[in-house]
Amino acid sequence: MRTQVAIIGAGPAGLLLGQLLHKHGIDNVILERQTGDYVLSRVRAGVIEQVTQDLLDEAGVGTRMHRDGLVHEGVQICVDGVRHRLSFKELVGKSVMVYGQTELTKDLMDGRAAAGAPTVYSAQDVALHDVLTARPRVSYRAEGKAHELACDFIAGCDGFHGVSRKSVPASAITANERVYPLGWLGILTDTPPVSDELIYVRHPLGFALCSMRSPTRSRYYLQCSLAEDIESWPDERFWEELKPRLDDEARARLVTGPSIEKSIAPLRSFVAEPMRFGALFLAGDAAHIVPPTGAKGLNLAASDVQYLARALVEHYAEKSDAGLDTYSERALKRVWKAERFSWWMTMLLHRISENSFDRNIQLAELDYLFRSQAAATAFAENYVGLPY
Ligand code: APR
Ligand code: PHB
Repeated sequence: MRTQVAIIGAGPAGLLLGQLLHKHGIDNVILERQTGDYVLSRVRAGVIEQVTQDLLDEAGVGTRMHRDGLVHEGVQICVDGVRHRLSFKELVGKSVMVYGQTELTKDLMDGRAAAGAPTVYSAQDVALHDVLTARPRVSYRAEGKAHELACDFIAGCDGFHGVSRKSVPASAITANERVYPLGWLGILTDTPPVSDELIYVRHPLGFALCSMRSPTRSRYYLQCSLAEDIESWPDERFWEELKPRLDDEARARLVTGPSIEKSIAPLRSFVAEPMRFGALFLAGDAAHIVPPTGAKGLNLAASDVQYLARALVEHYAEKSDAGLDTYSERALKRVWKAERFSWWMTMLLHRISENSFDRNIQLAELDYLFRSQAAATAFAENYVGLPY
């Protein structure tokens, strides 16, 4: 088999890239290790920046998001029981869309099916060959048979644990990493959210987040230790740990109920540099990870894909490799800014240090954020997403 671009991974990065390339008549095949149902069963964040929304519209998959998504013009931060609101609309004239990544992935899959573009699910033993030459190949097994896909380029969109980044010799890659000594325990419930807007909670007992998927479905998170066993978190314990961290109004409005999903995610910051190796281009979680505070993971995957799709279109339509040659540098500039913001929000809101100096710095920073128009504007500018 032969294609122009072999895409490894059918997460948001791979699917969105496939859709944008298809729009421009560039042939692509997606190889995904899991089944489509498995990909759709993963619950991830759900805050979509304006620039990401625009890109989804360009890819022709934004209709359901605009219909069912919730436009949020601000966000709330609760510090030790007192809630503060930051208005994106007033500060920077923008908003974000709250729409679950699961729904978005489904829209991308439906778009791909409608376009008739090929995706191989349950592709086993995916391996990259000759990436430093002009004739790269990808081998894999599907339905018990060995296959080989010849291509011009490989897009490594296979997430943090994927095979693409690992195919590059370790000496060619710089891994920048910071691991936080904590995780997020998240639950999804069919109960109405406590507020119309997300509430990020800083509390002596630890961080919490009240988020949502719809007016009838909520997503809550609690800071937890990395050693935490999910079996020791029955729903009742989750609610009992959440309640004291909230302000009085949110506590009074909290509707508890059985969880329909519960999981623990570790917090990690990671950036691999560069993001290009010959014919291999990394995009999304394959190249970088942010802690979920600030919800930048999906949005960063989208911005990588935007730079890469434009570069590939330039290559095929205009016979220019300028975009491909600067892909890594351009993508990393935006990645590092989102890494900075996610790290900053994580350090600002979690109980990480027992040192009173660190605690007081957190409180001073928060007080400055609520009192200074300049600080609030910088926050809003980053939260709604920096321009491409
Ligand atoms: N071969 C083929 N596919 C693979 C392989 C492999 N060896 N390894 C991983 N994959 C697939 C995974 O099964 C997954 O479906 O690659 C996909 C990667 O998807 P994501 O992990 O969602 O990464 P990405 O598309 O970059 O999305 C980034 O979405 O998933 C969130 O937390 C993530 O918010 C971030 C954003
Ligand atoms: C979510 O709704 O899952 C969510 C929202 C905001 C975040 C992280 C996760 O910062």
